[in-house]
Amino acid sequence: MENWIRVCEVEDIPVLGARVLKGRGIALFRDGSGAVFALKDKCPHKGGPLSQGIVSRGQVTCPLHGMTIGLCDGRAAPPDEGCTETYSVKIESGQVFLWI
Ligand code: FES
Repeated sequence: MENWIRVCEVEDIPVLGARVLKGRGIALFRDGSGAVFALKDKCPHKGGPLSQGIVSRGQVTCPLHGMTIGLCDGRAAPPDEGCTETYSVKIESGQVFLWI
């Protein structure tokens, strides 16, 4: 059964960086505007750890082979193909909740 789960505070996620939810394989990203996104921490190419990639302009660049993945939709930027799972995020009083 899915539900909103509180996972951390917004401030726990570095701006233009990521935080991994251990045991769930989910990476939380924070972009330059402070928006938070949640993706499976697994590149659709060969499973690279997206949480260790570079965040820029709404995307994360996989550290293994350089595919860029959209933070909103988890899709690889063309000409690459593939998609990683995304999770709904809400912020309340500085707390991050995921729909999982
Ligand atoms: S594993 Fe991410 S680009 Fe290859």
